[in-house]
Amino acid sequence: MKTDNAVTEKQARWAGLAPGMSVIDIGCGPGKTTSMLGELVQPGGRAVGVDLSEQRLAFARQHYGSSTVSFQQCDLYQPLTGLGQFDFAWCRFVLEYHLSNCFELVRNIAAALKPGGILCLIDLDHNCLSHFGHSPRMERAVAATIKSLEENDNFDPYVGRKLYSFLYDLGFQDIDVKVEAHHQIFGELKEVDEFNWTRKVEVAAKRSGYDFNEYQGGYDEFLDEFRAFFANPRRFTYTPIISCRGRKP
Ligand SMILES: C[S@@+](CC[C@H](N)C(=O)[O-])C[C@H]1O[C@@H](n2cnc3c(N)ncnc32)[C@H](O)[C@@H]1O
Repeated sequence: MKTDNAVTEKQARWAGLAPGMSVIDIGCGPGKTTSMLGELVQPGGRAVGVDLSEQRLAFARQHYGSSTVSFQQCDLYQPLTGLGQFDFAWCRFVLEYHLSNCFELVRNIAAALKPGGILCLIDLDHNCLSHFGHSPRMERAVAATIKSLEENDNFDPYVGRKLYSFLYDLGFQDIDVKVEAHHQIFGELKEVDEFNWTRKVEVAAKRSGYDFNEYQGGYDEFLDEFRAFFANPRRFTYTPIISCRGRKP
């Protein structure tokens, strides 16, 4: 539901995806992006989605599998051998979960590209951290929750700003970078934003193990306050998204 095909298409075309190419979708999840990338390389191209989660891959195969779109289980920490070499690798919203090993992962992905192939990395920066209109205790609780995820769950809220350095350090050529707003939320709250952000906050809070000691009622009181803050049309929330593309030497 969260994946907007028009946004994926714009980002992929900007990065240089074109008909006839072979494309690997790194961390493809339920396959919606792989299917879109597979359409953009027609005629003559193919798309392979790779992910660790068998459950997501099963969904992807059932909904998006075709003669030109396929799915393979892979752990990105292992060499991506056996899939061939690709003209284009797409990696969006994956590196944020790999704080301590990010560069090794990118190097591994780059090895699946042909010389001259394009690597497109897209991720958020200052993830979940940019709001205005909330209380000082909520500001502290949000920052502490994200800090716990960094320390205990290998989450990187600042990976967006690092993408350029990965391609630079690998010696990639024709590097280009684009900074845009992934979220820009003000005024009346849309149903989709309410759903996405409530889920985001619930999952982040649970995974972080943070105790919300700013709140007498703990997590439940925090969540009530977050919902009230987010429903207020005066609130402003934004998230930068950084896209970086380059060509393998
Ligand atoms: C937020 S989803 C990515 C969504 C999709 N790439 C997009 O552009 O909308 C992150 C995916 O990365 C996958 N992933 C995380 N770590 C992985 C690993 N070590 N190996 C393979 N897949 C991994 C997860 O299973 C999940 O499906």
